[in-house]
Order: sequence, then C-alpha cells, then structure tokens
Amino acid sequence: MSFMHEITKTLSVKIADKLATDGYIIINEILGVNLEKALYSRISHLENLSEGKIGRGMNRQKIEKIRSDKTLWLEGNEESEKEYLAWMESLQVSMNQELYMGLAEYEAHFSHYEKGAFYQKHVDVLKGSNKRLLTTVFYLTADWKEGDGGELLIYDEEGINVIKKVPPRMGTMVIFLSDKFPHEVLASKIDRYSIAGWFKGS
Ligand code: OGA
Ligand code: MN
Repeated sequence: MSFMHEITKTLSVKIADKLATDGYIIINEILGVNLEKALYSRISHLENLSEGKIGRGMNRQKIEKIRSDKTLWLEGNEESEKEYLAWMESLQVSMNQELYMGLAEYEAHFSHYEKGAFYQKHVDVLKGSNKRLLTTVFYLTADWKEGDGGELLIYDEEGINVIKKVPPRMGTMVIFLSDKFPHEVLASKIDRYSIAGWFKGS
C-alpha cells in the first residue's frame, strides 16, 4: 500500500501561519484514508500497551487520578508507523524552515482510552534540557459521535477558559505549542484511540 509521505508546501504554510498567530491548529483529513485505516488497524489490534506514565526517571509513576489511558511508543518497525513518522519528519523540517522552531527530534505513542478513561488537565512540557516544544495529536476513533465523550479540551494559557473542544474523530489532527496550552481529555464512553507526539529541542 502506498501513502502520502510528505507534507505539502501549501499545508505547511497553513500550519505555520496558524501556529504563529494562535499557537495551535486543528486540521482534518491530511494524512489520507489509507494511512488512517492502516494506523487504526494497528492500534486497535495492539496488545501489551502499558499504563500511561507521568514524568520521567525517579518521578515517573502511574498516577491513576491524572490519566487512565494505555500507551505504546511508536518504533517505526511497521509500515504505517514508518509512514506516520516520515510525515512527522517532513512537518519537523518545514516548521524549522517556516518558523525557525529548532525542532530536533520526535517521539510519539499510541493511546488507547478504554471506556471511562480520561486524562486530567495538564501541560505537556517536562523539566529537562531537550524540552517538548510542539505537540501533535492524531485521532483514530472510528465512528465517533456526539455523546461518546473523550473530547480534547484546550484551555487558554492561564488554564481557565476552554478555547476549543475537539472531538477525537478519525482523521483529525491537533498541533499546538507544548508550553502554551493546558489541555485535558474528557472521560470516553467508547474505545478511543489517538497518537500523541512531541517534537523536542536539542
Ligand atoms: C497526552 C495528551 C491528548 C489526546 O497524551 O499528553 O494530552 O487527545 N493526549 O489524546
Ligand atoms: Mn498532553
């Protein structure tokens, strides 16, 4: 199967413009249906996912109260993962060109929110040198409909007002500056799948 490997110039300019003005963008249908389907088939058949972790090293622990999704890091040893990571690499190159963001590496994990799972309000930036600069979330929830829950709430910088409520519908991508937007995942009433990823500095 062949997918679309690289971001188009038009799309990268659109993303860069929106990130420069608002700091976030929500886009639909950018990776193509074939890749969506392949990624969905991968995540929905994966076993051995781990409990989502918060923090790193000594502080890395399971905190049931904060998040209850299950995750698995993408390693690129399967075709759809490879395609996804290749597309992200082209996004990295174009954001560095358009916005001089200094994005140096990318990491991403599949997330499975089972019925009732959620992720409370948080900011993605962890302490440390190679900080997370830009967050991407790609949704793979098939047949999501109003009332199924699991929406992503994006808050303003102060973390007070919700500025966007994003349905986790298959094919939707959210990209935002990691240190600017507290966000949360409302409890899902169905199996909810996503790929959360982060570009980091050097
Ligand atoms: C995360 C996260 C959001 C989502 O994993 O840090 O905020 O909608 N995920 O899956
Ligand atoms: Mn997050």
